[in-house]
Amino acid sequence: MSDEKSKIKGKVVVITGASSGLGEAAARLLSVEGAKVVLGARRSERLKLLAEEMNRDGGKALAITTDVTHREQVKRLIDRAVEEFGRVDVIINNAGIMPRAPLERLTIDDWDRTIDVNIKGVLYGVAAALPHMKQQKSGHMIFVSSVAGHKIGPDFAVYAATKHAVRALAEGFRQEVKPYNIRTTIISPGAVDTELPDSVTEPDVAERIRQYYSEIAIPAESFAHAVVFAMSQPEEVDINEILFRPTRQML
Ligand SMILES: NC(=O)c1ccc[n+]([C@@H]2O[C@H](COP(=O)([O-])OP(=O)(O)OC[C@H]3O[C@@H](n4cnc5c(N)ncnc54)[C@H](OP(=O)(O)O)[C@@H]3O)[C@@H](O)[C@H]2O)c1
Repeated sequence: MSDEKSKIKGKVVVITGASSGLGEAAARLLSVEGAKVVLGARRSERLKLLAEEMNRDGGKALAITTDVTHREQVKRLIDRAVEEFGRVDVIINNAGIMPRAPLERLTIDDWDRTIDVNIKGVLYGVAAALPHMKQQKSGHMIFVSSVAGHKIGPDFAVYAATKHAVRALAEGFRQEVKPYNIRTTIISPGAVDTELPDSVTEPDVAERIRQYYSEIAIPAESFAHAVVFAMSQPEEVDINEILFRPTRQML
C-alpha cells in the first residue's frame, strides 16, 4: 500500500456539496483511497446513486440529504457520520454557489443566497464538526475558497467577498484550534470544469462564464488530488493553503 493510501484508509470524511463537481470528484478519489465518505447535498437522488456506486465498488459511503443553509441539517449530517462510523476525521466545507453579476444589477436575492450558502453554510459545518473534533483531539477541517478569495474583479464582488470570508474564518479557526490537534486547510481553485456556472442567474454573464470555462477549465480531479495531498501529510504537518489554477488562467 502506498504511503498516501495508508494515511487516508479508514478516515471518515464528510463532504458538503458532494452531488457534483469538486465534492463528487473528491468523494470518488477518497473512496478509492479507502476513506469512509459521508455525502451531503440537496439533490438526494444523485447523492444516493453516487453512494450506491461507491459501495458497489467496495467503498463505504453514506448519502445524507443536506441543505447547508439549515444548521440543523448540517448538524444531522455530521451526527449521522459519527453514528455510522464512530467519528469524523475530516469535513470538506465545499458546498457553494457563484451567481456572478455586476453590483449595479441589484441581484439582491442572489447576494442573500450566496452569503447563506458560501459563508453561513461553512460556519454551520464548523459548528457541527468542531465539538466532535475537540473531543477526539484530532480532526482536519478543509475549507473551499477560490482564486476569488485572493483576487477581486468586476461582476464577482459578492462571490469574492464570500470567498475572502471563508479564508478569514479558516485562518481564525486555525489559530483557535491549536489545543485540539486539529488541522486546517484552505483550498482555492481557479477555473475547474463543474456545474458551478449553472448557478449564474444573469443570462449574459452565464454565457460569458460558460465560454470562458469551455476554453480554460481543468478537470475536477485536480481538486481531489489537492485534498488527498493535504490529508496524506504526517499528523504534525498542516498544509494551510493550496491555490491552484489552470496553467492558462491569467487572473
Ligand atoms: N468550479 C470552479 O471553477 C471553482 C473555483 C473556485 C472555487 N469553487 C468552489 O468549489 C465549491 C464546489 O463547487 P463546484 O465547482 O463543484 O460546483 P458545482 O458542481 O455546482 O457543485 C456545487 C455543490 O454545492 C452543492 N450546494 C449548492 N447549494 C447547496 C445548499 N444550499 N446545500 C447543500 N449543498 C449545496 C450542490 O449540490 P445540490 O445542488 O445537490 O445541493 C453541489 O453539490 C464551491 O464552494 C465553489 O465556490 C469552484
